[in-house]
Parts: sequence; structure tokens; C-alpha cells
Amino acid sequence: MLESLLGGGTKALVGLDISSSSVKLLELSRKGDKYHVEAYACEPLPPAAVNEKQIADPAAVGDAIQKALSRAGTRTRAAAIAVAGASVITKIIQMPATLSDGEMEEQIKVEADQYIPYPIDEVNVDFQVVGPTEKDPNTVDVLLAACRKEQIEQRLAALEIANLHAKVVDIETYALENACQFLRHQMPDRGEKKTIAVVDMGASVTAVTILHDLKTIYTRDQAFGGKQLTEDIMRHYGMSLDEANKAKRQGNLPENYEGEVLAHFLADMAQQIDRSLQFFFSASTQYTQIDQVVLAGGCAHIANVDRIMQERLKIPTVVARPFAEMSIAARAKPQQLAKEEASLLIACGLAFRAFDEPRV
Ligand SMILES: Nc1ncnc2c1ncn2[C@@H]1O[C@H](COP(=O)(O)OP(=O)(O)OP(=O)(O)O)[C@@H](O)[C@H]1O
Ligand SMILES: [Mg+2]
Repeated sequence: MLESLLGGGTKALVGLDISSSSVKLLELSRKGDKYHVEAYACEPLPPAAVNEKQIADPAAVGDAIQKALSRAGTRTRAAAIAVAGASVITKIIQMPATLSDGEMEEQIKVEADQYIPYPIDEVNVDFQVVGPTEKDPNTVDVLLAACRKEQIEQRLAALEIANLHAKVVDIETYALENACQFLRHQMPDRGEKKTIAVVDMGASVTAVTILHDLKTIYTRDQAFGGKQLTEDIMRHYGMSLDEANKAKRQGNLPENYEGEVLAHFLADMAQQIDRSLQFFFSASTQYTQIDQVVLAGGCAHIANVDRIMQERLKIPTVVARPFAEMSIAARAKPQQLAKEEASLLIACGLAFRAFDEPRV
């Protein structure tokens, strides 16, 4: 059993988001209820190092983590990382309330094949008692989390190259939910009783997470993201991958870019988001309205993307600003951080694990 898949909080750790386009490192400290960015760095990854949330090249990732660490200038060597994708399974199961933790562990091992579609020796399993079952006083609800060992091992191998150790292994969707507390200043009624769609528009995946009262009630991933726009630019202007990536960020593209390339991408993106929202509505009987869309991920830095999505989705839309209420250390390069703010939500949720109580 892996202790830390849902495990408790600790002191001084860096949140490390190993995503498809880069490694993002963030360290937070807290005084009272005020947060402070201690350290930050983002290091690009070669194109095939991480694929569909799986590390394909641990050496390249380890190298990027090492560079990020030295650029961030932190001495912290404990990290919170996350697993994600198809090999991560979470489930609420019911267990007799009288079992001790040890007995529960034994029983889960025996029954694991009922819950997990992989051989038990190929997965790491962790569990946490959530509380009494609502309709049965004899059982408790238990959150079961499982992940293929391979995915965790590759992450640990990459961390080891950079001389980091993983103190917390979280699950990306939980990290995102945790990060949303840093967006409350932007939400109507600070998110209370509101239904909010957080849309993480990354390089290869766009993930829609719907929160109600700040708790996740629905998630859907689509294989669509900034990579499509980069490829459009390469095709349209005959640029290399590097050139297209740079031009996209710096905005020095020919005049017809906005109308002929970017506009199509944004229309496609809006359609993808709208489709996820429609899936949510058709899966739910309770919810008929989204109160706000919060845009995150690297594509949220496209100029006026909030206005454009708002026009298309007909829902009030903002760009995520997780650091707006935080102070920022000079070594964390506040100006650079502001430019990448919206793509650091997962890193924020992971960095937050330095303070929190055990999940749930
Ligand atoms: N200022 C910008 N303008 C346009 N696109 C940008 C800008 N900054 C970043 N991007 C794009 O955002 C994408 C990277 O976003 P992000 O860092 O959220 O992705 P990721 O987390 O690595 O990807 P994934 O979550 O899919 O694994 C890239 O496609 C990048 O080109
Ligand atoms: Mg991402």
C-alpha cells in the first residue's frame, strides 16, 4: 500500500506539476491566512518526454526538474507531485464501520479486483475513511485511490535524478480542486453555492472541472489544446515547432494571424468547452446553469480569450489569477510569474499540500 497517494500534509515542500509541455515548480509559505510565493520556475520539456500524462523519458524530465530547481533557487528537496490520466482510479466504497485500519487494508487487498480493473500487483492502492455512510449506520464510506505502479515509478525516477523526494503523491483533479480556493476572490459570492466551470486549456488536453460550492462534481478531459494552435501556425506560416511556439507567446505573427488562424482555434476551443458543458448537463438532473467559467492553462494567456469565450459560451468568464492575493518573493520573479499565472493551478494545489490536513 502506498501511504502518500492521499496522504497528509507536511512542511516545506515544492509543488511540482510535470505536464506535457513543461515542469512547473512552485513553493508557498503561509502566515496566518496570507500566502507568499517563496519560489517558482517553469522549465520546458522536449516534445515527447511526457505523453498522455505518462513520462516517456524520465531522464529528460529529471533534467528539466533539476534546471527548474536551480533556477527557482530553493533548497527544499521534498516535493508534492500528482498522477493523472486513465490509469488513476478513485472510488467511494462501503466497509464495515467496526474494522480497524489494518483490517480494512487486508479486506481491500482481497477485494481489490472488484474495484480496480488491473492486477493488484501492478497498482499502488491507498484509502481513506470519509465518514459514516448516510443510509447505513453499520458502514463507513471509504475513498479508494489506485494508480498503476509504472506511472508512479517513472515519476519517482525523474525526481531522483534531480535529488528530490516525493513526500506527497496526489491526484491531479484533487490538486486542481485545492487550488480553486485561491480563485475565490474572482468568483461570485466567493464560490459559495455557485456552479463554476474551471477550464484548464493546456498544451495537449483541455480539462473541464465543474465545482459546486467549491467541490468537484464533474470532470471531463478532451484531447485538444495549445498544441493544435502551434501546429496551425507551423502549417500556415511554414515555421518550425520552436519558431511557432515562440511566435505564439510573443505575439509577433503576421497581421492575418488573428483573423485566419487564432480565430479558428478559439472557435474550436469554445465548441469543445461547450460540448463538455452539455455532457455535464445531460448527466445531471440537479444542475441547469453554470454561474461562471474560469479559464486556466497556458491558452488562458491568449489576449482577450476571456471576452471571446464569454461571447461564445454566453456565461460570465474570467482568467484564473491564483496569485492576485499573494505576496511574491523577488527571487520568484513576479513579472514572469504574472505571465504564466493561469497555467500554475495544478502547481498551486500541489504546493498547498505543505499546509493541509489529510484530504477529505
Ligand atoms: N501567452 C501565450 N499565448 C498563447 N499560448 C500560450 C501562451 N503561453 C502559453 N501558451 C500555450 O499554452 C500551452 C501550455 O500550457 P500549459 O502549460 O497549461 O500546458 P501543460 O500543462 O504543459 O499541458 P497539459 O496540461 O495538456 O499536459 C502551450 O501550447 C503554449 O504554447
Ligand atoms: Mg496542465
